[in-house]
Formats: sequence, structure tokens, C-alpha cells
Amino acid sequence: MTFLQDACLFLLFYILISTNSDSNCVQGKCLNDQRALLLQLNQSLTSSDSFSPKRSSWHRNTDCCSSWDGISCNKDGNIIGLDLSDEHASVSVQDDFYSGLFKLQYLERLNLAENSFSEPFPSGFDQLLNLEYLNVSNSGFHGKIPIGISRLTRLVILDLSITVSFGFTDTSPWCHVFSSCLPKLQVLSLVYCGVSGPFDSSLQKLRSLSVLNLNYNNISAEVPNFFSKFRNLITLHLLLQLQTLQSLDISSNDRLEGSLPDFPKNGLLRELILSYTSFSGELPNSIGNLRLLSTLYLQNCAFNGSIPTSFSKLNQLQYIDFSNNSFTGLITSISSSENLVIVDLSQNRLTGPIPPEWNKSRLYVLQ
Ligand SMILES: *[C@@H]1O[C@H](CO)[C@@H](O)[C@H](O)[C@H]1NC(C)=O
Ligand SMILES: *[C@@H]1O[C@H](CO)[C@@H](O)[C@H](O)[C@H]1NC(C)=O
Ligand SMILES: *[C@@H]1O[C@H](CO)[C@@H](O)[C@H](O)[C@H]1NC(C)=O
Ligand SMILES: *[C@@H]1O[C@H](CO)[C@@H](O)[C@H](O)[C@H]1NC(C)=O
Ligand SMILES: *[C@@H]1O[C@H](CO)[C@@H](O)[C@H](O)[C@H]1NC(C)=O
Ligand SMILES: *[C@@H]1O[C@H](CO)[C@@H](O)[C@H](O)[C@H]1NC(C)=O
Repeated sequence: MTFLQDACLFLLFYILISTNSDSNCVQGKCLNDQRALLLQLNQSLTSSDSFSPKRSSWHRNTDCCSSWDGISCNKDGNIIGLDLSDEHASVSVQDDFYSGLFKLQYLERLNLAENSFSEPFPSGFDQLLNLEYLNVSNSGFHGKIPIGISRLTRLVILDLSITVSFGFTDTSPWCHVFSSCLPKLQVLSLVYCGVSGPFDSSLQKLRSLSVLNLNYNNISAEVPNFFSKFRNLITLHLLLQLQTLQSLDISSNDRLEGSLPDFPKNGLLRELILSYTSFSGELPNSIGNLRLLSTLYLQNCAFNGSIPTSFSKLNQLQYIDFSNNSFTGLITSISSSENLVIVDLSQNRLTGPIPPEWNKSRLYVLQ
């Protein structure tokens, strides 16, 4: 490489780095009142293993906006992001913690995931009206989710996973609350929340929904009759018709029955996870419309019939798990995706040789 090329590369690097740091400069210096609230929070938390990866960087003599892990500020020095995830912390002085937290009015992103706040889900989140991201997954909160959450109309990402017993008021079905009140939701994660009752077609109002995780719940048809089964199916159908949906995980709801509807053209679905449910019937030929599909987990359901030939058009497929269903026919018709990593076809009635184009040195096949 010539000197000139070297110099050019260096210059390019320099420009890249300096543009980058310029964009960080929009952070202002921490305001005193905001800093005082953080100190109040810090003092009211105890980390169970006395190691707090983020909070140990909170030094009194440094700027909280630029030097404290988990904090981000706007240009005026107000705190807009608080990430206390994975601190394994519990609250030692409840009043101080929550009064401090709910005064951080500018917060747009709040992550309390993976902590040990072993107490009822506090009300008060509805004071943080600017929240766009709220993650309390496995934070230790339990009991009913306060209805106030539904006032956070700017929410785009909401993760309430592993809050032990779910429920709003008995008269507000969960679907309805989210879909009527939180119109901007793109990601909704309710893993292991004790969600029960049927799907509700109001979910189709979530026009921007791209990820819906409902695995490990107790979703079913409310009354085991034809109409409620039908309603579940319609709702699933509507969900899968949502042009924005990229990931749907409703696995491990073993009382959830249904079959796959026709898939729209140019669907964006990348992940479809229905394992450990009571889904049955055949795969529709229109599954070939899901050109971006990379993960299809259908294990331990009751699917049958042969794999439609359109399936071979799915050339982004990486993970296929069809194990323990009643699929029949030839394995050769399955997929010629070069991206395949794992294919589990065990416990079916599929026959025939493994397709010669499957690269066995990097593809794990179970038959
Ligand atoms: C915040 O709490 C952490 C963990 O207990 C501690 O290491 C840190 O010194 C505290 N910072 C302030 C400014 O009190
Ligand atoms: C919530 O936080 C946990 C832990 O940091 C993370 O694994 C999870 O992906 C987050 N959820 C969302 C929807 O961002
Ligand atoms: C699931 O819901 C059914 C009926 O609503 C109920 O009988 C059952 O106990 C629930 N199971 C769990 C694990 O909550
Ligand atoms: C296969 O799935 C059925 C339900 O569809 C279940 O009862 C059975 O235990 C599963 N078998 C294995 C080996 O997982
Ligand atoms: C698949 O199972 C359904 C019942 O769930 C049955 O009506 C249908 O005929 C079966 N199809 C095949 C090809 O076995
Ligand atoms: C199969 O995969 C291995 C490991 O990734 C690679 O080295 C090899 O070239 C591949 N073979 C074919 C025929 O694509």
C-alpha cells in the first residue's frame, strides 16, 4: 500500500470517528435535580450478589449523562434512558425507590429486567408518560399488571414477561387493553405471564405489530365450542395477515387449537413458532409466500399431510422443527435452502433419502 493510500485511509478513519463522536455530543451535562433522583434510586437498591455491573460506575464526581452506565440524557441534561437490567437488585427502601423513579418524567426508555424486586407490580408507571420502551421482564414483579400501563400511549416496545400472575381487571380482556390503548406497539412480549382466555380479534388494531411473544401461557378457547375455536382461528388469521408481523411465538399453550390459514403474498414473517400447541391440519400451499421465513418450529403439534411443494421456495430457512407430528410424503420435497442449519423431522411418517443438496457437514438433520 502506498503512503497516499495509507494517508487516505487514515483520513477516512478520522472522519468516521469524529462524525461518530459528534453524534454523541447531543447529550447534555447532567442536571442537578435529575442526578439527585438517581442518587436516591441508587441508595434504595441492594444488589443480591453485591455486584452491580452498571451502578458501580456511578461515581459522585463524574457527569451522570456521559459517565454512568445505563444512563442516557437529552441535550438539556434530562434523563431519557435508564437501564437497570441485570443488576440482580432488590429494593431496600420502597418509598424512596419508586418516588424517585416515577419523578424521572423525561424517561423514554426504562429497563428493569432481570432483577429481584420481589413485590407486587407497582402502580405509578403511568406517570412516565414519555415512555416508548418499557421492559420489566423477570424483574421480580408479580401480581396483576396495573391498568395504568394502558395510559402509556407512546409505548412501542413492551416486555412484561415472567410476571407471575397476569391480569388487568376481570372485565378487561388482555388483548383489548393493549390493542385499544397502545396503538403504537411494535413489540409485545408476554412470555409466562399467566395469560388465559382466547385471542381477541381486537389485536388486529395493532397496525404496527411486528413481534408478538405469548409462549408459556394458558391461551385457549374460553368455552370448548365451535364458535370460540373459530374465533381463535379468525384472530390468528388476522394476525398473520398483518403486513408488519415479523415474529409470532405462541408456543407452549397446549390448549390452543387451530390450523394455519392462507398466508398473504410478500409476508414479512421471519419466525413462526407454534410448538407444543394443539395446532393441526395441513400446511397451506401459500406458506411459499413467506419468502423471508427463517425459523419454523412446529414440534409436538398435530400437523399432517405432505409438505407442499411451494415450501422449496423458502430459501431463507435456517431452522425447521417438525418433530412429533403426522407429516407424510417424501423428504426430498422439503427445502433446498442453502441456509439450513437444523432440520428435525423425527417422529413423523416422512420417507425417502435426504436431499443430495443438503450439506451434511454443516447441517444437522434428525430423521
Ligand atoms: C451506586 O451504587 C453502587 C452499588 O451499590 C455503588 O458501587 C456506587 O458507588 C453508588 N454510587 C453512588 C454515587 O452512590
Ligand atoms: C428485555 O430485557 C431483557 C434482559 O436485558 C432482554 O433479554 C429482552 O430482550 C428485553 N426485551 C425486549 C423486548 O427488548
Ligand atoms: C388454564 O385455564 C383453565 C381454564 O381457564 C384452568 O382450568 C387451568 O387451571 C389453567 N391452567 C393454568 C396452568 O393456569
Ligand atoms: C408427541 O406429541 C403428543 C401431543 O401431540 C404428546 O402427547 C407426546 O407426548 C409427544 N411425544 C413425545 C415423544 O414428545
Ligand atoms: C389431517 O387431519 C385432519 C383432522 O385433523 C383430517 O380431516 C385430514 O383428512 C387429515 N389430512 C390428511 C392428509 O391426512
Ligand atoms: C459444506 O459446508 C462446509 C462447511 O461450511 C464447506 O466447507 C463446504 O464447502 C460445503 N460444501 C458444499 C458442497 O457446499
